[in-house]
Amino acid sequence: MATLLTRLSSKAMDNLLLKGKKIVLGVTGGIAAYKAVEVVSRLRKAGAEVHVMMTREATEFVTELTFREISGNPVAQDMWAKVQQYNVEHIALANLADLMLIVPATANVIAKAAVGIADDLMTTTILATKAPLFFAPAMNTGMYENPATQVNLSVLKERGFRIIEPATGHLACGVEGKGRLPEPAAIVQEVFDFFAEAKALQGKRILVTAGGTEEALDPVRFLGNRSTGRMGYAIAEIAAKRGAEVVLVSGPTSLAVPAGVRAVKIRSAREMEQAVLAEYDRVDAVIKTAAVADYRPKETAPQKIKKSDGELTLTLVRNPDILYKLGQHKKHQVLVGFAAETNDLETYARKKLEKKNLDFIVANDVSAHDAGFGTDTNRVQIFYRDGREESQPLMSKARLAGLILDRLKEQWDEMSEGIELFPKS
Ligand code: CTP
Repeated sequence: MATLLTRLSSKAMDNLLLKGKKIVLGVTGGIAAYKAVEVVSRLRKAGAEVHVMMTREATEFVTELTFREISGNPVAQDMWAKVQQYNVEHIALANLADLMLIVPATANVIAKAAVGIADDLMTTTILATKAPLFFAPAMNTGMYENPATQVNLSVLKERGFRIIEPATGHLACGVEGKGRLPEPAAIVQEVFDFFAEAKALQGKRILVTAGGTEEALDPVRFLGNRSTGRMGYAIAEIAAKRGAEVVLVSGPTSLAVPAGVRAVKIRSAREMEQAVLAEYDRVDAVIKTAAVADYRPKETAPQKIKKSDGELTLTLVRNPDILYKLGQHKKHQVLVGFAAETNDLETYARKKLEKKNLDFIVANDVSAHDAGFGTDTNRVQIFYRDGREESQPLMSKARLAGLILDRLKEQWDEMSEGIELFPKS
């Protein structure tokens, strides 16, 4: 399959990605509105069904007729107008979109979207849609660099909207600086990349473990650790967004289960072991971010332990090493481990890679204040079976999750390259 696909040119692949996709393109009132015409044309040529909506100000720059002709669909522009095509326009457009693009996005529409103002068709549609939403800001450099605009853009980014970075160059207002709308081809490429990414892991089943385990001492006390589960939840979320079927075996955490992810909640290491083994045969990869307790109390008191004078001695016994077991029974699965270390990171990580029969291991120094347990960021080194290693700079756990999934996909691609599709008899 990989060989067949590589024979298709990347352009042909892009066109397959957009075939039949419904794209709602919002045009707001900026001088760059004319470039949106070419964006519509390119999307349509690539097989997408494009529906344009315009603000009243946008119609001062380009006529509605132009967009109607280029898109082949009626243009939505007035909340109160009776357009037969769309029933309750803002809801209809919001619901039909597989993706929404605002090109160009003025400082005004960005500000309204950031605070949830809905006072015209464009902003109500933006507020109502659940489709992935891209903004392509274009404005004067001063307006773009103004802290108000920058804060609004970060709010949108944090909420998961995509911002297509403006280019630097000569602006219509006569100055040089950042704020130019990127070329239509570059904007459309972002759309291709989005749909390619959304399919990248389609057909794959991934098991992710997350959080720490709790080992009960009595009905009210347990031995635990500081893992919050953030890394594993980020991986599960992004894997699902990329089209994988994801099962998340999770220790107790305060995090919400990401959309499209099936969660199995456990408490102890032995419960985690059972849940993981029950899924193992049917998954293509296991990513084990969980901080599993290596020991548990030998006995769990059936009633609350009462204090008495003197010391209390606990006897701990070994818990199963779940990942080691998976490594022993590995068939087609790719196994990814995590190593949390405070010293001799490389030595310990490589030992775990070898002993647990992993494909790669993501190691981090948990003594650093900005990496590891309870932080939003992580700085890791990745060690591979074939001896390779890579050091990554400090990055958000969400970005690291994406990177780990990229590496997992590379492993699968390498594996499928090794399988000859048409053996020469
Ligand atoms: N792991 C596991 N079961 C255990 C312990 C660890 O599956 N009982 C997995 C973790 O989820 C992680 C990897 O093994 O992916 C390494 O975990 P870590 O706690 O760093 O290492 P340990 O093997 O427990 O070794 P040590 O505690 O000696 O560092």
